[in-house]
Formats: sequence, C-alpha cells, structure tokens
Amino acid sequence: MGKTILITGGAGFIGSCFARRIFQGQPQARLIVLDALTYAGNPANLPKEMKASDRFEFWYGNVNNITLVNELVSKSEIVVHFAAETHVARSIFDNRIFFETDVLGTQTIANAILKFKNRIERFIHISTSEVYGTALKEPMDEDHPLNPLTPYAAAKAGADRLVYSYLRTYGLPAVILRPFNNYGPYQHLEKAVPRFITSAILDEPISIHGNGSASRDWIEVEDVAEAVDLTLQADLEKIRGQAINIGTGTATSVLEVARTILKLMNKPESLLSFIPERPGQVDKHISSTDRAKKLLGFQARTSLEQGLIKTIDWYRKHRDWWEPLRWMRTVPILTEDGKMERY
Ligand SMILES: NC(=O)c1ccc[n+]([C@@H]2O[C@H](COP(=O)([O-])OP(=O)(O)OC[C@H]3O[C@@H](n4cnc5c(N)ncnc54)[C@H](O)[C@@H]3O)[C@@H](O)[C@H]2O)c1
Repeated sequence: MGKTILITGGAGFIGSCFARRIFQGQPQARLIVLDALTYAGNPANLPKEMKASDRFEFWYGNVNNITLVNELVSKSEIVVHFAAETHVARSIFDNRIFFETDVLGTQTIANAILKFKNRIERFIHISTSEVYGTALKEPMDEDHPLNPLTPYAAAKAGADRLVYSYLRTYGLPAVILRPFNNYGPYQHLEKAVPRFITSAILDEPISIHGNGSASRDWIEVEDVAEAVDLTLQADLEKIRGQAINIGTGTATSVLEVARTILKLMNKPESLLSFIPERPGQVDKHISSTDRAKKLLGFQARTSLEQGLIKTIDWYRKHRDWWEPLRWMRTVPILTEDGKMERY
C-alpha cells in the first residue's frame, strides 16, 4: 500500500496541479483533498477519473475545522498544506479572512500534526516569496529578512514562522517551501498572467499597476508541483526544518510579461492601460536557486516564453473554464484618499 497524502487547498491552482501530478505519477499513493471551495477553489480543476478513483477522497471543509482536520490528518502519512486566501489585492480591502485562514488555519493543521506526530512522516508547508518583501539583495536567499508588505504577505509570514516554531518546539517533521510567482493553466483570472491573457483574447484593455516596472521571478506551476514532489522524495534528515525558495533565478518586469503575451498572441500594445500603483507593491523579487538545487535537486525547466506559450494555449482552449470567472478579473480597492480603484 502507498502512502496517504492529505492536500489542503487541492481544488485551487497550485494544489490541484500537485494533486494531478501525484495521482498520475504515483499510482500507489492515496490522496485526500480538503478544500473549502471558496471563490478560488474549483472542483473542475480535478479530473473526472481522479474523482471516480478509490485512491481519492474529496472533503469539502475548512482548515479551521479542528475535528475534521484531526480526522483527516489521523488517516494520512504526509500533509501538504496549500490552503490559503491568496490574492494580495483582496487582502488590501478585507484582510481578516487572510489571518483566519492563512495563520489560524495553519495552526489547526500544525496542531493536528502534533497530535498525530507518531504517524505523520512529513509536513510540507507552502509559504511564499511574498514573506520577504522587496529584494534587499539579489538574488534573494532564504536568509533574506522577512519584510512582508501587504496583509496577505504578513499572514503568510505568520504562518511560515508558526510552522518554524512548531518545528523547533515540538520537533515536527516540517519543511517550508517558498515559491515565487506562479503562473500556468487553471489560475484564477484575478492573478496577473491569466488576467492579461484573457483580456487579450477578449480584445479588452490590460491594466498595468504603476509603470509596470515591478519585477518578479515567474515560475511555471508544473515546475512548482515537481519541486513539491521532490520534497516528498528527499531524505528527510537533509531537509527537515529548512525553508527552501522555489524560483527560477530570473526576474522579469510585469510590463515585459504583458508585452510578451501581446506579442505571442499577435495583439497590439495599444491594449496596455496604466492605472495607479497598487499599495504595498513589491519592486523586485528574484530567487536564489542554490538551496533548492542542493537539497532537492530542483531546477525549473520551463523558460518564461515556453511557459507563456503553453498558458496562452490553455486559456484559448478552455474558455468554458474561465468564462464564469470573467467578472472577477478585478477587485475594488479603497485607496488611501478614499477613492475606489479596481485592481
Ligand atoms: N499563486 C502564486 O503565485 C503563489 C506563489 C507562492 C505561494 N503561493 C501559495 O501557494 C498556495 C496555493 O496558492 P494558489 O495560487 O493555488 O491559491 P488559490 O487561491 O488558487 O487556491 C487556494 C485554495 O485554498 C482553498 N481554501 C481557501 N480557504 C480555505 C479554507 N479556509 N479551508 C480550506 N480550503 C481553503 C480554496 O478554496 C482554493 O481551492 C497558497 O498557500 C499560496 O499562499 C502561491
């Protein structure tokens, strides 16, 4: 019998990519997905054959439900914790749920792992590069100071350090991954790359915050799923207690990404439209890739251009998936001077 892997947030963008990878690639593994199916979760991200399989269980529920989380952790050997509120812009106008889900939800998971410590072999916590804030040095390694710039980033930093404290206090078999900016198929339209692609498909303006100079380390989601998979396979004694960046080591500005998308789609640059800078914008992110290479043997495979070509193709072919989300491409934000901007 293979291991049972509990995946929280497995109906979301990255969690479902990881679940599909493990379901296909590890025929012995049993998967339990726990997901609250918020506006960001979508059961259509999980293929029919997975849902029909006796190796798969889906639980509709909240990571803050202690009884349910205890029950599911008690049946698992491995926990991979993706569930979170994830949209930076939403956290600017309504952040309470970010702290409830991202911090207290992580506490519920960590407490359950503590309760079943003798059973749980590995706990992979999915943190984020947002915990660092803007790069103070380049590339950013895992010892970079944590200067979260938005409520989302602060909540994720809280969760990241909570897991670290449980590891030091109680010796949990935990590893913290800090992926940089993910993009790829099945990403909610509120995020930059799918918003740009679907706006271009619709011949609608592509809004860019500020002058678009903010630059990020963009990583294709299947590369991230591979990194999480390698974290499952790695020698625990080597990785236990580590925080590990998952990035490409290359930074590209938001404007450059938008221009590349327009070029690849044969659309005019006149679609670009500039709106005021988003509060709490990170100016630059670029990942050091050394630790991931050394501890996991991980190196991103997909160049930005290859990844964008694949992602554009997916959104062109899956309009039925994204059409219902079209109205959620932007969210209203109250700016400092009390005006409403849509980000
Ligand atoms: N997308 C990125 O660029 C990125 C980069 C680095 C790290 N991350 C982290 O990776 C993880 C997954 O991100 P994503 O982009 O797939 O997010 P997503 O918003 O697409 O998915 C989040 C999933 O969590 C579920 N969820 C939310 N609240 C829940 C709750 N209270 N209980 C149970 N399930 C709940 C949602 O229904 C959804 O399925 C998050 O922890 C995020 O912080 C994301």
